Amino acid sequence: MILNALDEVLFWEDIPLLKTFMEKIVSQYYPHDPETYFNEKKAFMMEHIPDRNEFIKRMEYYINNGSPVWVSGRNSLGEEITFDDLQKAILSNVTIQNGKSKADMASVLLAKEPELWDYYTSNIMHASKNTICELTIGAGLGTAAVMRVMKDSDLYIGVDIDFLCAKNADAIAKYFGVNGLGIAASLWNLPFDNEMFTTVCCNQGLEECREIPIILSEASRILEHSGKMVLRCKNLEGTTWYSYFEKYGFSIEETRLWLRKLRLYSDVGQIEEIASQTGLKLLDRKSDEGVWSILVFEKR
Ligand SMILES: C[S@@+](CC[C@H](N)C(=O)[O-])C[C@H]1O[C@@H](n2cnc3c(N)ncnc32)[C@H](O)[C@@H]1O
Repeated sequence: MILNALDEVLFWEDIPLLKTFMEKIVSQYYPHDPETYFNEKKAFMMEHIPDRNEFIKRMEYYINNGSPVWVSGRNSLGEEITFDDLQKAILSNVTIQNGKSKADMASVLLAKEPELWDYYTSNIMHASKNTICELTIGAGLGTAAVMRVMKDSDLYIGVDIDFLCAKNADAIAKYFGVNGLGIAASLWNLPFDNEMFTTVCCNQGLEECREIPIILSEASRILEHSGKMVLRCKNLEGTTWYSYFEKYGFSIEETRLWLRKLRLYSDVGQIEEIASQTGLKLLDRKSDEGVWSILVFEKR
């Protein structure tokens, strides 16, 4: 089931209502009838959040009561793993074929912006022996970008709240023959000692997460002194949440302010600001013409 972070925020007072509804429309319409699926979801949203006042009321509720705890996932969190999930993980997600298909998909995308990706990976591989923690494995684009340049002496651990996404990292590591493992855990409470890693990286992941300040403070905690945090993030116009707010008549400036108050991803400037409060200093950044920026921080 797919609940996005902003939906979770808006239904924080009644997550079971949202979950039950989403389960129903996913089983009925997704993925074979996406048009009906999206129309049903839109109608549900309009029924419960008919106007701007209700939208604001719900955001204020989350600002005051929301917390960094798991309420839903794309597939399953560790504690909810079913036998079907385990079977899928063994038979499909951790296979070398899955690794190859993720690596092939990634190489098509990486070839479109080779300079930007070289910049991403060369900053990640800054030490002679790199210990890398990737935040959000997802479909594994960033994972493949990192693993294809890893050496034998490097070590990778990826984290995703979704168990099956975590297993994509195992498959990609198998395919490239590198030392890497994906684990299912939340970024709000990383299961690592302080200062364990030379690098923390994340490709296009913060945009989907709740509670950004805690995630950045955890990233800083696990980084060694002079370690680097390398993030590939969307510039303002590219982020999903803006179109949501537009529907309820919010300007870009208002949207940016609300997202910051909600502790959701707002824009690259927000990330710079919060990171600097957790001891991470921006060393460098590179942006393409349109959607992406890569930010390189150092732990001071
Ligand atoms: C857009 S995907 C990441 C894309 C991926 N990095 C890539 O390069 O293909 C976002 C991922 O973030 C994960 N996620 C969202 N919130 C999380 C949290 N609090 N802790 C850990 N993972 C989280 C989701 O499960 C999802 O797999």
